[in-house]
Amino acid sequence: MLVALFAGDGIGPEIMVEARRVLDALELDDLRYEEGLVGGAAYKAKGHPLPPETLDLAQRADAILFGAVGDFDCDGLERHLRPEQAILGLRKALTLFSNLRPAKVFPELADASALKPEVASAIDLLIVRELNGDVYFGEKGMRTTADGLREGYDVMSYNEAEVRRIAHSAFKAAQARRGKLCSVDKANVLETSQLWRDVVIEVSADYPDVELSHMYVDNAAMQLVRNPGQFDVIVTGNLFGDILSDQASMCVGSIGMLASASLDANGKGLYEPIHGSAPDIAGQGKANPMAMILSAAMMLRFSLGKAEAADRIEAAVAKALSQGARGADLGGSMITREIGDAVLAALA
Ligand code: NAD
Ligand code: IPM
Ligand code: MN
Repeated sequence: MLVALFAGDGIGPEIMVEARRVLDALELDDLRYEEGLVGGAAYKAKGHPLPPETLDLAQRADAILFGAVGDFDCDGLERHLRPEQAILGLRKALTLFSNLRPAKVFPELADASALKPEVASAIDLLIVRELNGDVYFGEKGMRTTADGLREGYDVMSYNEAEVRRIAHSAFKAAQARRGKLCSVDKANVLETSQLWRDVVIEVSADYPDVELSHMYVDNAAMQLVRNPGQFDVIVTGNLFGDILSDQASMCVGSIGMLASASLDANGKGLYEPIHGSAPDIAGQGKANPMAMILSAAMMLRFSLGKAEAADRIEAAVAKALSQGARGADLGGSMITREIGDAVLAALA
């Protein structure tokens, strides 16, 4: 089986190296790896954030492991040439519409959370974020109003088929967990959200064993810090899911801990930490590689049929944490390589 490795920009290459060391230590003989350029690195080398050969590798691969993209040097480029277009382009081109972002507190980390330990320790939730639609992919542009004012616009929309397919993903995920699904929207204001809610309710007829609730996104942001233990599975649109998942990461302890899977209808997936290229700490050994390592575990579990290897990685991360492996993001002093070493030692 072929695994595509796209390290990307900023801390992407630093954390990818650690994930690769962990994968190599597992000695999975039937896996082959091929590297590709994405993001600002690809723009600088090839003139495009998602060059054709990278897209081709992504299409040929059985799974994709992705670091992060984003480079402030590129923020002045036309939008279609910016690094972020690499990840957006891969999600769209491969129809990776279902983004699973689990957030669970490792018992050792309850004190690292931004929340009180007794609140944080109850967190075991999964955000199912729609990834192919919403305001991200609607018509957008800059124009001038009749009064001569510059105006930016981005159209938010979902059609019922897009909502239905993510709803099915979320109900199935809830069935495999504690059977509770909270759909997060802004139906009190947005037509897009009204349709979202109507369709989620329609789909719920197929899942009588799942307890469905609805919550407005502003309340959901508040409830995530007030009582995150109330959530099992959250399903939401692309934009709300982006924001809520960064918030959930600090409830768990650090954005450097949250992994994600972006899946198509057949289980092919791209796996990446939820964080970005962290240009503020790039090149300093300050990046926590655990989200990247846990993303590799998700890849083994969901796309490569290697649940046992995934279990081993997750157990090694937990053991390393329990032995005190922490970078600056978790109040510790280990550098990226030392955290990788600690996970490798725990794996052995
Ligand atoms: P970010 O997630 O890169 O960083 C936010 C903050 O969290 C920073 O202070 C950073 O140092 C810290 N942080 C992030 N990951 C960390 C880790 N593993 N260990 C320790 N600390 C970590 O978000 P940002 O600063 O808003 O964006 C930076 C760039 O990344 C932008 O160009 C943005 O577009 C891009 N981005 C890319 C992705 C992606 O590739 N999927 C995701 C988010 C942001
Ligand atoms: C994420 C990132 C991306 C998103 C950006 C880089 C396009 O923030 O994966 O969470 O908004 O989806
Ligand atoms: Mn994000």
